[in-house]
Amino acid sequence: MLDTAPNRPDLPAEIARRRTFAIISHPDAGKTTLTEKFLLYGGAIQMAGQVRAKGEARRTRSDFMQMEKDRGISVSASAMSFDYNGWRFNLVDTPGHSDFSEDTYRTLTAVDAAIMVIDGAKGVESQTQKLFEVCRLRDLPILTFCNKMDRESRDTFEIIDEIQEMLAIDVTPASWPIGQGRDFIGCYDILRDRLELMDRADRNRVAESIQINGLDDPKLAEHVPAHLLEPFLEEIEMARELLPALDPQSVLEGHMTPIWFGSAINSFGVKELMEGIGAYGPEPQPQRAEPRQISPEETKVSGFVFKVQANMDPKHRDRVAFVRLASGHFTRGMKLTHVRTKKPMAVSNPVLFLASDRELAEEAWAGDIIGIPNHGQLRIGDTLTEGEPIRVTGIPSFAPELLKGIRAADPMKAKHLDKALMQFAEEGAAKVFKPMIGAGYVVGVVGALQFEVLASRIELEYGLPVRFEPSQFTSARWVGGDKTAMDRFINANRQHIAHDHDGDVVYLTRLQWDIDRIERDFPDLTLSATKEMM
Ligand code: G4P
Repeated sequence: MLDTAPNRPDLPAEIARRRTFAIISHPDAGKTTLTEKFLLYGGAIQMAGQVRAKGEARRTRSDFMQMEKDRGISVSASAMSFDYNGWRFNLVDTPGHSDFSEDTYRTLTAVDAAIMVIDGAKGVESQTQKLFEVCRLRDLPILTFCNKMDRESRDTFEIIDEIQEMLAIDVTPASWPIGQGRDFIGCYDILRDRLELMDRADRNRVAESIQINGLDDPKLAEHVPAHLLEPFLEEIEMARELLPALDPQSVLEGHMTPIWFGSAINSFGVKELMEGIGAYGPEPQPQRAEPRQISPEETKVSGFVFKVQANMDPKHRDRVAFVRLASGHFTRGMKLTHVRTKKPMAVSNPVLFLASDRELAEEAWAGDIIGIPNHGQLRIGDTLTEGEPIRVTGIPSFAPELLKGIRAADPMKAKHLDKALMQFAEEGAAKVFKPMIGAGYVVGVVGALQFEVLASRIELEYGLPVRFEPSQFTSARWVGGDKTAMDRFINANRQHIAHDHDGDVVYLTRLQWDIDRIERDFPDLTLSATKEMM
């Protein structure tokens, strides 16, 4: 029988079989290749190579996309669903560029677990570490795939030690590699006592899998050459002594990560990883919300917007809001309440992101991601609900780390720039601040690349070349507090005050000293580097 929800037998089967996750990795570790193999085994594509081909086709659509291609980055995130062995997997793609962005953070608010892919020769790289830290903020369970084992790789113990030390997480081997580099023949599946042998001749062939009755089984020697068998047996004995055994609860709490060794390009180790996500990955988790948390099994549907992608087709100015369903069973045409505006919204053309293409969603369950085309009503952080008003929390907006002034190259077009900036601010692509004194806007981003992305999108989508200018400010803080204190504060600091696209008050400065001073002089006010999106 399929072990769908070992921890929560009360969950309806449809919800219990769902696994919603993201892949975190450093560029080039093999995320795309692994995704492709997931989709292949999930029956979502027929042939390896389609994801990339589809990616290419998508990238040629615009100059902006051209930029992604040149830099080998993927700026836009998407979601894909596929079935495997009775499980429904929802894979949410994290943006792959190296600038940490809110987009990445918010993507991770929509998943229940992450797969960490590392390159067996390189170990834990910088981007992996950054993304891991974001996962840790939410205690997300992490399953690890050590890729490219078909090539010269680091010593297995060394890789495991590095993960334990750099990421401060217990590591338990789910499989153990046999041989190294050109000698690599496959893995021993520790969890199921099987020998998995890689077929180097056919990259798309699934490994030969042989049941083994423990490590004394003579069958091992039939399949593993003597010069590899001995060191393997020594290593695995050491591993059993030195490394912790799999503790499913500890995995779910994010304290332990099981690691599989494999080679995505050779289709090796991927199925074992998928089985692992099914068996040890979490089912859809309760969602933090106000005034109470939302449980997936609640019958009333609710969901929240974690990403908005605007102008997917510049001719139509359409937007798709990516909604993670937090509870219930959604059916097409359902009327939900848009909690922020209190307006009803009939969701008549929701989209499910099946890997082969977008498809109209007739139904979806808690844990699924649906796309809702709209004209701007849906913003990041918005909650939709069938029941009482409730608001999903924990989708923050971060203070930008880089600020610049922005102007339309043609001053006659300033009005158009207003509109474009508001839209990008709502989409979450940048922070936009309107200073109280002076004309123009200050835009803020977390990574420098976002300035270029913004400029090229404004030009492409609004036909509006823009110029950035150095700003006298380097930091922004949202200001909160009662009205009297706030008015007094604003009057005393007018040169530093701006409003964001929601009209909230922001304090701009270049000195930490200023921030400390305000905190001292205005104890009734709070200066915050994050703002809850709503
Ligand atoms: P990314 O999305 O994480 O950036 O990585 P991607 O899958 O694009 O893989 C990066 C490179 O690593 C690709 O080579 C890919 O073929 C290769 N690769 C992925 N998995 C394995 C593996 O298990 N073993 C080996 N040896 N290589 C692997 P490329 O030359 O950049 O691209 P391509 O010409 O193969 O398309």
